[in-house]
Amino acid sequence: MSGWLVTGAGGQLGSDVEDLLRAYNEECVAVGRADLDVTDREDVDRVLADTRPDIVVNCAAYTNVDAAESDEDGAYDVNARAPAILAERCASLGARLVHVSTDYVFAGDATAPYDEKTRPAPRTAYGRSKAAGEQAVLTSHADAFVVRTAWLYGAAGPNFVKTMARLAGERETLDVVEDQLGTPTWTLHLARGLVALAVSDQQPGIWHCTNAGEASWYVFARAIFAELGLDPARVQPTTTDKFPRPAPRPAYSVLSGHKWRAAGLPVMPHWRDALHEAFETLTDELTAAV
Ligand SMILES: NC(=O)c1ccc[n+]([C@@H]2O[C@H](COP(=O)([O-])OP(=O)(O)OC[C@H]3O[C@@H](n4cnc5c(N)ncnc54)[C@H](OP(=O)(O)O)[C@@H]3O)[C@@H](O)[C@H]2O)c1
Repeated sequence: MSGWLVTGAGGQLGSDVEDLLRAYNEECVAVGRADLDVTDREDVDRVLADTRPDIVVNCAAYTNVDAAESDEDGAYDVNARAPAILAERCASLGARLVHVSTDYVFAGDATAPYDEKTRPAPRTAYGRSKAAGEQAVLTSHADAFVVRTAWLYGAAGPNFVKTMARLAGERETLDVVEDQLGTPTWTLHLARGLVALAVSDQQPGIWHCTNAGEASWYVFARAIFAELGLDPARVQPTTTDKFPRPAPRPAYSVLSGHKWRAAGLPVMPHWRDALHEAFETLTDELTAAV
């Protein structure tokens, strides 16, 4: 049995990774920001020395993409410098590292799914900080998996599903952009994938893992309304230029699942099936006020 350390356990992915490891009866220490600030070298040393994990899953991140535009240094602290510290320490302890990254490392102007060999070309401060984190991890530690994912939702939100559930109760109609494409991904399915990859004999390096298929936010929003038993026609299509944001949103964020499937890693269900399963198990959590 492996001993696991999960960082960022207060977040939506970290909490699902922790719950899953506990369900598998794995030995697991899961720490939120209050127990381990991943930017604090001494804190990292202390926790790693105390726990001596075999596998570290780094779910801690600065995820506010708009705030990062005016706080790039803050984003780099958590998304680039902290993974460098973790990777160095894991390397010296002989612990495997699973580090989570994002579709935002790409420019978002492709027309076919991004594979693991595509060169990052981030267009946002968040994306630059995450790309720097990937590089730091891969150059400091030979036994590190960098897993890029996208469009996450889970019980511990906030996330798009929870926002749609809330807005459905506040407004008769909603305008949602139809010119951004990606793959909605349930954090529980991603957590299963991360754990399976971590204990596999696959090659360390970059991996892409999302649910399957693709959707616009508009199509995703309509599917959420349908799961809520509401009329999807209340969601109407609009375009990105109507919603100016500090960080430009990628028009195309679909990550290729080819390498994942070819390796025989756990099947990542289609995003529609994942959403349905999430609502079956998490209706209260996904519709709770955020
Ligand atoms: N959410 C998405 O749609 C999405 C898409 C693609 C990739 N990803 C990646 O997936 C991973 C998990 O994302 P998520 O959605 O679970 O994010 P999340 O819910 O925002 O969780 C991130 C967690 O990291 C914590 N954190 C921030 N700074 C920290 C620090 N210095 N030390 C320790 N913990 C710290 C946060 O705590 P506070 O709440 O206190 O700040 C939060 O609990 C991240 O690497 C993210 O970049 C996410």
